[in-house]
Amino acid sequence: MKRMSGRTALITGAAEGLGKAVAARLSEESARVVVIDRDAAAIKRASAEPDMADVTFRQVDMMDGDALAATLAEIESAGFDVDILVNNAGGSLHTPRDFFEETDAHWDQVMGLNVTAAVRTLRMILPGMKRRGYGRIVNLGSKAGRYGSLFTGANYVAAKGAIQSMTLQLAQEFGPYGITCNAVCPGAIHTPRVIGLLKERMTDDEQQAVLDTIPVRRAGRVEDVAAAVAFFAADEAGFITGQLMDVNGGQGMSS
Ligand SMILES: NC(=O)c1ccc[n+]([C@@H]2O[C@H](COP(=O)([O-])OP(=O)(O)OC[C@H]3O[C@@H](n4cnc5c(N)ncnc54)[C@H](O)[C@@H]3O)[C@@H](O)[C@H]2O)c1
Repeated sequence: MKRMSGRTALITGAAEGLGKAVAARLSEESARVVVIDRDAAAIKRASAEPDMADVTFRQVDMMDGDALAATLAEIESAGFDVDILVNNAGGSLHTPRDFFEETDAHWDQVMGLNVTAAVRTLRMILPGMKRRGYGRIVNLGSKAGRYGSLFTGANYVAAKGAIQSMTLQLAQEFGPYGITCNAVCPGAIHTPRVIGLLKERMTDDEQQAVLDTIPVRRAGRVEDVAAAVAFFAADEAGFITGQLMDVNGGQGMSS
């Protein structure tokens, strides 16, 4: 499908994991894609992959507000007028699950990347979308932020809850300018990093017991998430805003 021809997409934290699959998918759909990520080695690996051949990369640590602002300004002045923003950078950052083991620093780190960095990015990107009268914002929420988590902590759950609630408010405020804002909320997606985290925090039997409760009886794949992001990012999703889409094989459902 070439639904995004003529559109420019910015995807944060996307040299690896879910974001990389989203970048490949939107590029395949003919969007001009820019990825920002802090990891130079991951950028080098990703840029060598055939499905990332047309993707532009910029290296920046999004926890550094000034560096982030400078990078986003440079991207804009290089002629990338962002139509589609995927706020993907985030995660539990290997902080403890146990509430009493989570320090202020763990909370700051997780809220900083999942929420503050996304807010700063939105503050930089939304004015252009508003001026041009068009935008698709897709935030990465999580099953954790919707229903709680079996292996990450309250800091991550709260951060994803914040991004999910903010999605509704941005949809309210920017809908009149042709900008939609939605969130994709994945369950555990078996990337190498998540497989490692699960191994650390759950036995094989516990993991199997969880899989047995998932209606579709399998773990999530990065392509499952990329397809959901592409749905919200397409022109034709213009009447859909303020929605949280679960991508979890039915592990969590709400009516
Ligand atoms: N993987 C899952 O199972 C899962 C489930 C639900 C939600 N999510 C959400 O999806 C998003 C992506 O998750 P993932 O598992 O692919 O992430 P990940 O940990 O694999 O990281 C993806 C990328 O983010 C980059 N990154 C990390 N810190 C950064 C920073 N300070 N500045 C710039 N780039 C930075 C990393 O270098 C990496 O390339 C996150 O928001 C996460 O919370 C993931």
